[in-house]
Amino acid sequence: MTTATMTASDMKVTIGPTKLLINNEWVSAASGKTFDTINPATGEVITSLAEADRADVDKAVKAARAAFEPTSKWRKMSGTRRGALLHKLADLIEQNAEGLARLETLDNGKPFNDSLKADVPLTVACYRYYAGWADKIHGKTIPVNGPYFCYTRHEPVGVCGQIIPWNFPMLMQAWKLGPALACGCTVILKPAEQTPLTALRVGELIVEAGFPPGVVNILPGYGPTAGAAIANHLEIDKVAFTGSTEVGKLVMEAAAKSNLKRVTLELGGKSPNIVFADADLDAAIEGAHFALFFNQGQCCCAGSRLFVEERCYDEFVARSVERAKKRKVGDPFSSGVEQGPQVDQEQFNKVMSYIEAGKKEGAKLAVGGNRVGNRGYFIEPTVFADVKDDMKIAQEEIFGPVMSIIKFKDLNDVIERANRTIYGLAAAVWTRDISKAHAIANGVRAGTVWVNCYDVFDAAAPFGGYKMSGIGRELGEYGLANYTEVKTVTVKL
Ligand code: NAI
Ligand code: MG
Repeated sequence: MTTATMTASDMKVTIGPTKLLINNEWVSAASGKTFDTINPATGEVITSLAEADRADVDKAVKAARAAFEPTSKWRKMSGTRRGALLHKLADLIEQNAEGLARLETLDNGKPFNDSLKADVPLTVACYRYYAGWADKIHGKTIPVNGPYFCYTRHEPVGVCGQIIPWNFPMLMQAWKLGPALACGCTVILKPAEQTPLTALRVGELIVEAGFPPGVVNILPGYGPTAGAAIANHLEIDKVAFTGSTEVGKLVMEAAAKSNLKRVTLELGGKSPNIVFADADLDAAIEGAHFALFFNQGQCCCAGSRLFVEERCYDEFVARSVERAKKRKVGDPFSSGVEQGPQVDQEQFNKVMSYIEAGKKEGAKLAVGGNRVGNRGYFIEPTVFADVKDDMKIAQEEIFGPVMSIIKFKDLNDVIERANRTIYGLAAAVWTRDISKAHAIANGVRAGTVWVNCYDVFDAAAPFGGYKMSGIGRELGEYGLANYTEVKTVTVKL
């Protein structure tokens, strides 16, 4: 396996594996092809990696199917032992926190402080949470009519394909692997082509933890090739996808046309963040800033439609603009930096085109709007005020550091407008009035509602979308349902 060391700022980053992980072995792609992953802070190539395609997916599926045979070591393993392996993995990730955080920042561009203080601990917590479930997954006994004993078994759904995005590479891997492994499934995981490095390094720790061969296979590659091969595969029982709504539809279509594999989707959002004039405005301004700008604005649940009540609108806009001006953008390895580069040229271009659209449609550009520096993919924290509901920037997912502030009049007006979107991932409300808080929490059609806070995640709390934001829930006990089949057994007494 290739290990290289490179310098980003003055921090050394160890790259780790760059091949495919199939059956606990590091192998080149069948085609021999490789592709490059880029440092978004500089635009320079970090390293090249084996590029998986259909033949590699076939090979990984064979390994995963063998590992799922009823007589395999993995299938015969107790839930307690599966839990112990997940705990071991969590411990290894924690012991390697610093190195993993550096690698995540190098590949993705997010501030090192965020990688170390958010991504790594949330990843560890997710594996520990599902480690605890591994020996607690069971069915019920059901009283039925007649002389019968009826019970259910919650069996692992089988071989799972998992396709993840680049915005939280390590954490999305944990959200996918945690419940799948707790339930006893086997996995073919495809990291995003932009950010494959931490997935492979965690793969190394998975082998070290002692997971049997074939249980976890990791195949970096592109969507239309390796990703589509997973979605179309006849021997994959379930596919879990996180990414764009556009590709989510393709994955579901491929599942339908191949073998009706089970599908869960975690897709885009355009989440309303609603601020009433009676809120603690200091907290709401900082909260709204965090809700939008965290992770360079690259969050599926970003508070990207910021509805502010008429009575406090002018003050709120002025102070939000001041806060955005103070946001420190720069080298993600430097301390104190709050915002790094967008993940790649494509995302940079997309965000800049939305800024143009906002200007063209007549929103008021209050601050930002430009590129920062002349290399890498940095964008100024940008705030548009006087945004109207039907503008492109208020309807489509921007996935960048662009805040859209919209004025509203009262409670009834805002609930209806908050729901006028194809999405339904998250929402938030800032108010001191408990009745208003509940009216929003009940009235908004979204999978998560935060009250006087934003982006509060916990491995125990389910997350997922209404409408075109997805199908199914991840995390918590609810997340287990994606990875089990229910079997009914009836015995004549
Ligand atoms: P994408 O949906 O194309 O990529 C996500 C994952 O799907 C990657 O692993 C990719 O390789 C894979 N993929 C792409 N095409 C596929 C196909 N035909 N079959 C199977 N897998 C496929 O997202 P992309 O292009 O990186 O970003 C586009 C937009 O999607 C972003 O600007 C953002 O709006 C949204 N997005 C949402 C995310 C979320 O967390 N919900 C994460 C990433 C992007
Ligand atoms: Mg794409």
